Amino acid sequence: MGTMTIDGRKVEFTDEKNVLTVIRNAGIDIPTLCYHSELSTFGACRLCTVEDDRGKTFASCSEVPRDGMVIHTNTNKLRNYRKLIVELLLAAHCRDCTTCIKSGECVLQELAHRLGVRTVRFQNTREQHELDFSSPSIVRDPNKCILCGNCVRACEEIQGIGALGFAFRGTEAMVMPAFNKKIAETQCVNCGQCRAFCPTGAISIHTNTDKVFKALADPDIRVVAQIAPAVRVA
Ligand code: FES
Repeated sequence: MGTMTIDGRKVEFTDEKNVLTVIRNAGIDIPTLCYHSELSTFGACRLCTVEDDRGKTFASCSEVPRDGMVIHTNTNKLRNYRKLIVELLLAAHCRDCTTCIKSGECVLQELAHRLGVRTVRFQNTREQHELDFSSPSIVRDPNKCILCGNCVRACEEIQGIGALGFAFRGTEAMVMPAFNKKIAETQCVNCGQCRAFCPTGAISIHTNTDKVFKALADPDIRVVAQIAPAVRVA
C-alpha cells in the first residue's frame, strides 16, 4: 500500500502486483503486447516501458509498485521507443495485412495505427518458415510471430500442456513445438487458448471446417473444447 506520482498525479495503490496495473487502474492507457493478467509476467515486448524522475526507463509490467515512486508514461522519449519497437516488430513480420485473417483484430496492426508507424525502414532478414496446417483447430504461421510468448504461457499455465516452446536464440529465435514437430504431433488438445492469446495472425483458427468437424468426430483426436472462446484479458 502506498502512493506514487504518475504523470504529475498522486495515485494510491494497495496490492497491485506491478506498476502497469497501477497505471491502468488510474485510467491511463499504456500499450502492451506480452502482458496478460492471467499469465505470468514475461517482460518481452518493452512497450509498457515508463520513465522515472531520474530518466531511468523500465518495463512497468515487471516492476513492483513502491511508495513514493515518480513515473512518467508518455514522454517524447517513450513515444519514440514505442514507435521504434513496433517498427522493428513489423520489420520482422510478414506484412500481408490486407489478406491476413487477423486483420482488424491484430494488436500489432492496431498499435502501428495508434502510434503513427506509417513506414518500416528496416529489411526483414528473418528466414521464412512453412505454415503448419496439421492441426484440426489452429494454423500456425511462424512468419507472423512476434515472440511475445503468450501462446507458450497460455498452453503451459492455463491448459497445463506445454505443446509450444521457444527454440534458438537471437534473430533465429522461434516459437514452435519441441523438435520442430507439427502441432498435430504434439500433446495439443485443440483448446484454442494459444490462438485466444496470440496478438497477431501467428496462430489463427483453422478455416477448413470439413477438417474441424471430422476431427471433432474422431475419437483418436483429443478435443477438450470446440475452440475455446477468445479469452483475451489484458
Ligand atoms: Fe511489459 Fe511487454 S507488456 S514488456
